[in-house]
Amino acid sequence: MRTQVVIIGGGPSGLLLGQLLHGIGVDAIVLERKTRDYVLSRIRAGVLERGTVGLLEQAGVDARLKAQGMPHDGTLIASDMGSFRVDFTEHTGTTVMVYGQTEVTRDLYDAREACGAQTIFDVANVTIEGADTDTPAVHFEVDGKPHTIACDYIAGCDGFHGVSRKSIPEEKRREFEKVYPFGWLGVLSETPPVDDELIYANSERGFALCSMRNANLSRYYVQCSMADNVDNWSDQDFWTELKRRLPQDVSAKLVTGPTIEKSIAPLRSFVTEPMRWGQLFLCGDAAHIVPPTGAKGLNTAASDVHYLFEGFKSWYGSQDSAGLDTYSQRALARVWKAERFSWWFSSLMHRFPDQSDFDLRMQQSELEFLRTNDAAQKAFAENYVGLPY
Ligand code: APR
Ligand code: PHB
Repeated sequence: MRTQVVIIGGGPSGLLLGQLLHGIGVDAIVLERKTRDYVLSRIRAGVLERGTVGLLEQAGVDARLKAQGMPHDGTLIASDMGSFRVDFTEHTGTTVMVYGQTEVTRDLYDAREACGAQTIFDVANVTIEGADTDTPAVHFEVDGKPHTIACDYIAGCDGFHGVSRKSIPEEKRREFEKVYPFGWLGVLSETPPVDDELIYANSERGFALCSMRNANLSRYYVQCSMADNVDNWSDQDFWTELKRRLPQDVSAKLVTGPTIEKSIAPLRSFVTEPMRWGQLFLCGDAAHIVPPTGAKGLNTAASDVHYLFEGFKSWYGSQDSAGLDTYSQRALARVWKAERFSWWFSSLMHRFPDQSDFDLRMQQSELEFLRTNDAAQKAFAENYVGLPY
């Protein structure tokens, strides 16, 4: 087999890149380790930056998003010192769109199938050959049968645990990591959201977040120990703890019910540099991870896709390699800004096991500054809705 771009990974990054490339007549094959249903079973954050919405429009997959997505022009931030709202539209003139990542991925798969673009599922033993040559190729197996695709370029969109990043020689890579000393216990419940907007809470018992997927599907999180186990938490335990971490007026109106999903996720900040090696380009979680606090995972993957797609468009359109040659530098410049915001917001909103009294005062002062200072709220809003590409 031969194609112009092999995309390893059929998650949001790979699918969005594939859809944009299809739109300009560049042939790409997506290789996905799992099945479509497995990929769509993943529960992920659902806050889309304006730039991400724009890319989905450019890819022609925004119909359901526009019909079912919920524009949010602000968020609530609560602490033991009181609650306040940051108005996105007042400070940035724009909103974010609340629309589940699962739905984004579903829309992308539907569009890919509708246009007849090739996706190969259940691939195994994917290896990359000759990424640093002019004749790169990707080898893989399906049902034990070996296959090879020769290509011009490889997009490594295979997430944190994929093969792409590790295909770059260790001596060529520099990795940066911070593992947070806690996790998030998250639940989905078929109940109406407690508020029209998201609520981020820093309480003496730890962080909590009230989010949503639609008018009758709510998503809630509480900070927990990484030593914790989801089996330790009955639904009642979860609701009781969530209520203890929220302001009383919010807890009083919380509609509880059976959870339909319950899981614990670790929090990590991670970046690998560079994001290119020869004809291999890393994109999305393959190159970087953020703690979910700022909802930057999907959105930073989207900005990578933007830079990489623009690079391919210039190369295949006019043999101009400038976009591809500067991809890593341009993508990383925005990645690090998203890492900073995600780290800052996580540090602001969580209680750390080794937190000193002074550390707590610093957290409280930062929250008070955010509550009372217009420039601080503008900076928060600009980061939350998405910095420019
Ligand atoms: N071969 C083929 N596919 C692979 C391989 C492999 N060796 N390893 C992993 N994959 C697939 C995974 O099954 C997954 O479907 O690559 C895909 C990677 O998707 P994500 O992990 O979702 O990463 P990405 O597409 O970059 O999306 C980033 O999604 O995971 C969230 O928090 C993340 O919001 C962020 C966004
Ligand atoms: C979610 O809805 O899952 C969500 C929303 C906002 C976040 C993190 C997760 O910051």
